[in-house]
Amino acid sequence: MTSADTPTLRSRSWFDNLADPEMTALYLERYLNFGLTPEELRSNRPIIGIAQTGSDLSPCNRHHVDLAKRSAQAIRDAGGLPLEFPCHPIQETGKRPTAMLDRNLAYLSLVEILYGYPIDGVLLTIGCDKTTPALLMAAATVNIPAIALSVGPMLNGWHKGKRAGSGSVIWESRQRLAAGEIDAAEFLEIAASSAPSTGYCNTMGTATTMNSLAEALGMQLPGSAAIPAPYRERGQMAYHTGKAAVEAVMQDRRPAQIMTRASFENAIVVNSALGGSTNAPIHLNAMAAHLGITLTNDDWERIGHHIPLLVNLQPVGDYLGEDFHHAGGVPAVIGQLLRAGLLPHPDALCITGKTIGETYQNAPVHNAEVILSPEKPLKTDAGFLNLSGNLFDSAIMKTSAIGAEFRDRYLSNPDDPDAFEGPAVVFDGPEDFHHRIDDPALGITPDAILVMRGAGPKGYPGGAEVVNMRPPSYLIKKGVHAMACIGDGRQSGTSGSASILNASPEAADGGGLALLQSGDRIRVDLKARKADMLVSEDALASRRQTLEAAGGFPSPDSQTPWQALFREKVKPFADGMVLDGAPDFRDIASK
Ligand code: FES
Ligand code: MG
Repeated sequence: MTSADTPTLRSRSWFDNLADPEMTALYLERYLNFGLTPEELRSNRPIIGIAQTGSDLSPCNRHHVDLAKRSAQAIRDAGGLPLEFPCHPIQETGKRPTAMLDRNLAYLSLVEILYGYPIDGVLLTIGCDKTTPALLMAAATVNIPAIALSVGPMLNGWHKGKRAGSGSVIWESRQRLAAGEIDAAEFLEIAASSAPSTGYCNTMGTATTMNSLAEALGMQLPGSAAIPAPYRERGQMAYHTGKAAVEAVMQDRRPAQIMTRASFENAIVVNSALGGSTNAPIHLNAMAAHLGITLTNDDWERIGHHIPLLVNLQPVGDYLGEDFHHAGGVPAVIGQLLRAGLLPHPDALCITGKTIGETYQNAPVHNAEVILSPEKPLKTDAGFLNLSGNLFDSAIMKTSAIGAEFRDRYLSNPDDPDAFEGPAVVFDGPEDFHHRIDDPALGITPDAILVMRGAGPKGYPGGAEVVNMRPPSYLIKKGVHAMACIGDGRQSGTSGSASILNASPEAADGGGLALLQSGDRIRVDLKARKADMLVSEDALASRRQTLEAAGGFPSPDSQTPWQALFREKVKPFADGMVLDGAPDFRDIASK
């Protein structure tokens, strides 16, 4: 590359500031300790930050510590200078009260790093659930050239000759434990068998979903998302991504050019075809908000609901991450959608500078049992419905997760095949649920609707993944496994439950769920997109008065400063759970 081709790099105002040579000297001296020379730092070579999410605290992303060495070598080979730095760790399964609380914290801290240090472009090491949206949100706000690299899924888990998928096998084993079919030791053995290697969850949970969508959005190299973490191709992809990071800076290709309204609409379609997580709308609505794009749950229904399910992965299907990779991964899914004319914007740009249409049009499917065709999909209408009513303004439901048992129990009235009604059983937070679910005094009947509230962003800071509630053990023993659940919390993407969730506004934020009482009847009409408690307006008004007189819906105290700050500023799930005011800061590297 000749100097005439090289764009003016923002790092020059640190390391080669002709107007203020004294500051340049001060900025330079400590970075020289790292082994860089003044010539290198003043040579107009792009400085590529490697935003490192792997650490001993976040085992899903731990392999990034090794992969970064490959990326750094590639960055040097391409004429750039790599500088690796740590991100706030987020481990989905280890963080109390929930890793979701940390998404916005990791976002904030990465914005400060990318804005405040001499970084010309950034390689985002994504993987475990919230690491992906946190890093992409920050890249969106700062808007410096950025590329993502997945850590890749774990190898397939196996237990007694059967595939054991992360998370999914836990939900199933919990029911078996409650029914007395297995003991705690076997529960642990099954759980451990589902996590056989480094990498993120091998099911179509939130991690596989978000890594796949990062590719669909154009922010990863083609084929990058699905390669399992321990495979040799993963290291090679780390190398290619390092090179592409330098190219993105040289071409001045920025997140706002890649993550456009068109690419978000493509991603919604891809999410349906994947059978993606119910956490995806929260994260994509947030990423879009940070780019000044309004993406709503109505968009998810309008663009995504009618799209068929093509990927046969647990929790709704049979297979796992290695199978997905061998079948062709994300390229094969996008290829199928393109060939069927289902991808709305084939002209959307990828980080490579090519369009998504030209990149994936001919991507082959290698295993038609794992990646199906739109003509013969696993299920039709695989996207989300967006429901509303006097319980909430917006809550989503993945109708493709409705199984035969659920349908027989709740949706079998021939005169009213899309609606169901039942008595509410209300739980105030996950602890209340665990404490009382097996209490026979609750008298839960098979037609009941289990309700979880106090589990939203403010109520349980960050929002608990608890709406997919198991039936009481006395009903499980009678063969009841799937009950209707509604709540203002989330559910794990690894759960195949057809819950109505992410209710916004939440009970702790003035939502109608706060007024519900156990025994009230709830009616859900999927065709009309409605969910209501059948309680008169007068009764609701008087309940609201009583609640307000008592100081509002009770929430537990914040345990940390961040919890308190987060609760003050956070917006509902439907708005992406972003911090109020944060999306006003855009393209800040240019300012
Ligand atoms: Fe980290 Fe699932 S727990 S990816
Ligand atoms: Mg999760």
